[in-house]
Amino acid sequence: MSPLKKNAPRLTRVVGALAEATGMREAKLNELVRIGDSGLLAEVLRITGDRATLQVFEETMGVALEEPLTREGLPLAVELGPGLLGSVIDGIGRPLTELAVRSGDFLLPGADAPTIDRARRFAFTPTISEGATIGPGDVVGTVVERGAFEHRILVPPDRQGVIAKLFAGERTVEEPIAELTDGSTLFLTHRWPVRRPRPIAARLDASRPFLTGQRVFDFLFPIAEGGTVAVPGGFGTGKTVIEQSLAKYAEADVVVYIGCGERGNEMAEVLHEFGRLKDPRTGRAVLDRTVLVVNTSNMPVAARESSIYLGLTIAEYFRDQGYRAAVMADSLSRWAEALREIGSRLQEMPGEEGYPTYLASRAAKLHERAGRVRCLGAGNREGSVTLISAVSPPGGDFSEPVTQACLRVAGALWALDPALAHQRQFPAVDWHTSYSLYSEAMGAAFDASCDPGWSKARATIVELLQRDGELREVASVVGPEALEDPDRLLLQASAIIREIVLGQSAYDVNDAYSPPAKTYRLARVSLELFEAGKAALKKGATYGELDLSGARRALAMMRDAPAVDFEARANDVTARITGLWRGASS
Ligand SMILES: Nc1ncnc2c1ncn2[C@@H]1O[C@H](COP(=O)(O)OP(=O)(O)O)[C@@H](O)[C@H]1O
Ligand SMILES: [Mg+2]
Repeated sequence: MSPLKKNAPRLTRVVGALAEATGMREAKLNELVRIGDSGLLAEVLRITGDRATLQVFEETMGVALEEPLTREGLPLAVELGPGLLGSVIDGIGRPLTELAVRSGDFLLPGADAPTIDRARRFAFTPTISEGATIGPGDVVGTVVERGAFEHRILVPPDRQGVIAKLFAGERTVEEPIAELTDGSTLFLTHRWPVRRPRPIAARLDASRPFLTGQRVFDFLFPIAEGGTVAVPGGFGTGKTVIEQSLAKYAEADVVVYIGCGERGNEMAEVLHEFGRLKDPRTGRAVLDRTVLVVNTSNMPVAARESSIYLGLTIAEYFRDQGYRAAVMADSLSRWAEALREIGSRLQEMPGEEGYPTYLASRAAKLHERAGRVRCLGAGNREGSVTLISAVSPPGGDFSEPVTQACLRVAGALWALDPALAHQRQFPAVDWHTSYSLYSEAMGAAFDASCDPGWSKARATIVELLQRDGELREVASVVGPEALEDPDRLLLQASAIIREIVLGQSAYDVNDAYSPPAKTYRLARVSLELFEAGKAALKKGATYGELDLSGARRALAMMRDAPAVDFEARANDVTARITGLWRGASS
């Protein structure tokens, strides 16, 4: 080992993901440090005099005491620029596919590679001219990525000046694209510290729906562009399937998918599937609009904690270009568990269930990074970050701290119910406990953009489901036969609505994605069936004389029909509804 200067930073203790060092008097909080010859990455969590506590982002096995440290002087940051789309990076920004090619499936400690490939060339087209004055967030030019995505190259939020020279054409990320009159240069990429929200010009209200393509969400619990939603559910209730379905089909320009502490094979699946699958709106591969941030359960816990911030920073960066970004976080429980593990190693005073007392405030800060904004810079761009967070409460108990911390700050709750999952009612969203604070505003938006009857149909179905819940309780005591005919009809209609409107298979090629027009038609036609039944009862039919099964089958075929057959199927349903009661024509 090389002889150390007396006060040089060096390691004195390692416990799991935490390490202690001396010679750290000059260190700054959150500053990055490299450990030993392997260059393991760590972050300063606490400084007391000459000593610092470090959180190590990589496996600490094999790390020796007295190893020298190198201070990097800067906090954990991510490189932002073209090349991110379609890539897979870990919680500290290392390109996983690259590293896997280099060192096999297991990352070597300290293995390092820049987020964006140094050799790759991007065709830069300036959109300003030499002599232009530029400020934070201005667009200086574009790079067309993955065939069609217009990546807007931004002046970093902390830079300004006058352009002296522009360098159009093929550039790597290490070659300047512009020189300023003060002699400084701009590049295709810039770095931004992940724990600091990127600045914006102004916050805008959440007025536009964030289309998910999932009926139960768009119709019953819609969220706004720039909104936040917590998706808690026990094991196997469908959280990951929801995150994946939204990543595939939601109306977003860019999706950052964060696999945080969950199973690694799921992320491999995502990578494989997203590469094949086409975005129904653009016809391009879903992967072309996706950035995957992967810190699965087998990877170090500290990088799990940072992966959420890294993902949010990338989403903010695309927002700042004027795009609608969405973050799928699966799951925030693993992020919170990482906080807990680190907090307990630091011997902090634990709060509820051992989570640190600052869990709620951290959760709030993280949710505040979502929103619809006016972007920094010229051109009046608007962009958004929508946050969809899975939460995995142990035993499915929503009263636990992480679910509660998320619920306090999220704008909507999509509560998953194991009983529904068990009945294979998917998405297993419990419509009695779920809610969306955006639903009224979004309903009005759907009335304007899809059909003027949207809000009214929604209200009718909400009421029907409510009544259905009450009646089913009664029926469980007295038996369904004891109910009045109109109530028995309501139970039947509600079952049809649950199956056809709220139920949606993620694996049906024709129904995995439901555009608003389809969602509305299915809801509308189901209600027509109910109305026809009620009318027949009024005209003297008994419940036993009504035949809803034909219409139900026709509705299921309408739901699962390819788009070209949809109208024909809808006509079939209408015919079935007319034939609901033989007595009607006599
Ligand atoms: N929308 C859906 N359509 C069909 N099957 C679903 C749907 N959602 C969930 N499932 C089923 O439930 C299983 C568990 O879902 P998953 O998302 O992995 O649960 P979780 O992430 O909550 O543990 C899936 O493998 C699938 O069989
Ligand atoms: Mg899951």
